[in-house]
Amino acid sequence: MARGALIIFEGVDRSGKSTQIKRIFNQMLNKGEKVYLTRFPERTSEIGQTINGYLTSSNNLSDQAIHLLFSANRWEHAQSILNYLNNGTSVLVDRYAFSGVAFTAAKGLDLEWCKNPDRGLPKPDLVLQLDVDEETAKSRGGFGEERYEKVEFQRKVRSLYSRLKEEHSDIWKVIDASGTADELTPQLQSFVDETIKNCQNNDIEKLWI
Ligand code: TMP
Ligand code: MG
Repeated sequence: MARGALIIFEGVDRSGKSTQIKRIFNQMLNKGEKVYLTRFPERTSEIGQTINGYLTSSNNLSDQAIHLLFSANRWEHAQSILNYLNNGTSVLVDRYAFSGVAFTAAKGLDLEWCKNPDRGLPKPDLVLQLDVDEETAKSRGGFGEERYEKVEFQRKVRSLYSRLKEEHSDIWKVIDASGTADELTPQLQSFVDETIKNCQNNDIEKLWI
């Protein structure tokens, strides 16, 4: 059976990822395609609730400890993602290990150290990075509500994404997301469709191994 594709949406906070990924998911469902939508952090598990507490500043953790929890949150869902893929269902994910690395390295921690706990996760077939400039992100509703939503910090995250893009040029697409949501959706959908078609007979690789 043809396997599903693992497709990640990445971007700074307020880049429009969550809006777009839901639109793509709904379009695919309406067409009767096999698709599953998830996100990281996945805030409902015990680990996810601790992460949520950290992001909303109701608890504090060291930079290393929160980094490992974000990674553990992916690992606790990794097998179920693999099961979907092997059953022919494509999986759309709002953030993945690239957020893990970019957000922690933006605090000054070593990039390779940041990658280590995520090594071996299912490797994505496509990363769609929604790119917006600082002013656009900042002007969008809700900016500033959570821990990392500060202009200076998001600037560092954006430059770390550029570095990750260089390392993953085979799977990484940067999309200008400063336009309207309606302009963006068909563009993203065509990358998603193409990837699902092209990865069908490829093995699922492991990330950073
Ligand atoms: P969200 O806005 O997509 O729910 O993500 C919450 C915040 O968590 C966002 O600022 C990005 C950050 N984050 C990390 O720092 N490390 C991670 O591994 C992930 C998935 C998100
Ligand atoms: Mg956010």
